[in-house]
Amino acid sequence: MSKVLIIGAGGVGSVVAHKCAQVPEVFSEICLGSRTLTRCENIQKSVKARTGCNIEIARVDADRVPETVALIRQFKPKLVINVALPYQDLHLMDACLETGVDYLDTANYEPPDEAKFCYQWQWDYQERFRKKGLMALLGSGFDPGVTNVFCAHAAKHHFDEIYYVDILDANAGDHGHPFATNFNPEINIREVTARGKYWENGAWVETEPLSVKQSYDFPVLGHKNAYLMYHEELESLAKNLKGLKRIRFWMTFSDNYLKHLEVLQNVGMTAIKPVLFEGREIVPLQFLKALLPDPASLGSRTKGKTCIGCEVEGLKNGKHRKMFIYNVCDHEECYREVGSQAISYTTGVPAMIGAMLMLTGKWRGEGVFNMEELDPDPFMEKLNIHGLPWLEKVMS
Ligand SMILES: NC(=O)c1ccc[n+]([C@@H]2O[C@H](COP(=O)([O-])OP(=O)(O)OC[C@H]3O[C@@H](n4cnc5c(N)ncnc54)[C@H](OP(=O)(O)O)[C@@H]3O)[C@@H](O)[C@H]2O)c1
Repeated sequence: MSKVLIIGAGGVGSVVAHKCAQVPEVFSEICLGSRTLTRCENIQKSVKARTGCNIEIARVDADRVPETVALIRQFKPKLVINVALPYQDLHLMDACLETGVDYLDTANYEPPDEAKFCYQWQWDYQERFRKKGLMALLGSGFDPGVTNVFCAHAAKHHFDEIYYVDILDANAGDHGHPFATNFNPEINIREVTARGKYWENGAWVETEPLSVKQSYDFPVLGHKNAYLMYHEELESLAKNLKGLKRIRFWMTFSDNYLKHLEVLQNVGMTAIKPVLFEGREIVPLQFLKALLPDPASLGSRTKGKTCIGCEVEGLKNGKHRKMFIYNVCDHEECYREVGSQAISYTTGVPAMIGAMLMLTGKWRGEGVFNMEELDPDPFMEKLNIHGLPWLEKVMS
């Protein structure tokens, strides 16, 4: 029985609140904190209607460490689940250190004024968490998150040596808007417009944004164009998967999405450097975010499925083996269960599972951890129980 504080009342925060409320034997009390109280209130009402559970809500600006510290001291959680934005990661880790509370997030730190994400900023907290006997679990979403656990599962159960990993993320959902992003538009567009990067033979290889593609035959979804991108789990997996020769990340985009993105980029709407407009500075990408549909509003309109998985290649008992470990998730089923589309769902469920494993002591450690550093078995078991069943396909 444990109290948990969720920070960020967005698309993912809503799923985390609903999924935690479904497991009262672990999450005895839940508080959802965010900057905008009305967002918290809407989620509070939905959780009550769907699960019967009363959750507490609070207004908090997580960029202000003393505000979070005051909320933690008042509510006294055992764990803070950070599903606000990557900009808040370090502030929330600081608040956890000050109050002696464990920490979990789904995306690594990114400075607001530079489109760059990297684990080093959070890995630098290792000693501080260790000395205080606290645990910080990084990247407990789907990708990163479940993809890291799939790799750990492959290494534990299916391979003696892993040489190649390709992480493939396909969203064949249709929300009916000409252009929208499935999670926070600012974070999503910063990620997609960045230079591609993959790791091969001990070195990083850079590519022009979205310049490398392949047609991949996804289970259930069929052939989709998948584009090589840099994604944060590559950084930790390249470090933690011993013997690896190459790891890459691919995401599918429709031609329509890419056409809109190209135009927006060409006219400067995706820029993050402020420009002067009518006497005041605005960030074009933040203005674009204000115009685009709120990802949390896409749930009721999105139809179709996602498929995210890891294609792993290596040796078992001296023989070559290649397999795909994956989940298929249906947007409409997610909406029926928790009122959200599958992108928020596939992120929020693993955040709840990571929290559950930490609170029940199945995943325990002192310091800062990436998902693949922990035993994959209890996590894989919980995925099947809590809405993200996985499958394995032996390819050769
Ligand atoms: N690992 C994965 O698979 C994966 C996949 C998708 C998303 N993600 C991550 O999940 C996180 C949430 O994504 P989302 O789609 O839910 O985004 P979202 O809908 O934009 O929600 C983010 C929420 O964070 C809150 N927030 C922002 N700044 C805050 C602050 N200073 N203090 C308190 N709350 C603040 C905002 O609430 P207010 O309106 O109250 O300000 C907003 O509703 C992001 O970090 C994203 O990168 C991870």
